[in-house]
Amino acid sequence: MELYPSMMCADFGNLANEVRALDAAGADAFHCDIMDGVFVPNITMGTNDIRAIKAATRKPVDAHLMIVDPLPKLDLFINAGADIIYIHPEAGSFTAKALLAIRAAGRKAGLAVNPEMPVSAVEDLLPLVDHLMVMTVSPGFAGQAFLDFTLPKIERFAELKGRFGYTLVIDGACSPERIAQLTNLGADAFVLGTSALFGKGDYAKSIENLRTTHLVAA
Ligand code: DX5
Ligand code: ZN
Repeated sequence: MELYPSMMCADFGNLANEVRALDAAGADAFHCDIMDGVFVPNITMGTNDIRAIKAATRKPVDAHLMIVDPLPKLDLFINAGADIIYIHPEAGSFTAKALLAIRAAGRKAGLAVNPEMPVSAVEDLLPLVDHLMVMTVSPGFAGQAFLDFTLPKIERFAELKGRFGYTLVIDGACSPERIAQLTNLGADAFVLGTSALFGKGDYAKSIENLRTTHLVAA
């Protein structure tokens, strides 16, 4: 099970220390939500934040691009050091080209699938995907409620995992109970925001509990 703290929820007045604390607490990678205020009605992190996080850890840092027309902007995030770059298929008309460009740059290609997006709409792209991320909230804001109707889609992507070899990531309202449930469905990795990590006290204790709870649940 991989755990990715959602850095939009971190204390930005203390970012480097937050990264070091989360790294020491056992985070597997750092999740950076990049929003342009057009694809989603919010504006959050940018390339300087990715650079700052990269400078404070040796662990992977991702870029979740909730921006329109990501293809021509990929180099911004590649040059900022993003190790995994997620794009949304609805964000532009060159999804396959963008996934191939991310891989050509030696980074992991991520596909983020919104709650309304059916498996059938992205199945043909799965050979190009290293990280398949199911959005279990409408993207853009932390602190939302988990959308239960995404559960069958998670099960389907878990079934397809064996054929395509991607890591199945869940992003949105991942509470400890959800993480136990979704691990049993076949999810591999979780974005941790306000539902399981931030504002929940000691990072190391929270992460340790998530790892043991999931074992108990299994
Ligand atoms: C949603 C964000 C996530 C996540 C935050 O667009 O990508 O960062 O929802 O975690 P929660 O939902 O637990 O506050
Ligand atoms: Zn995200």
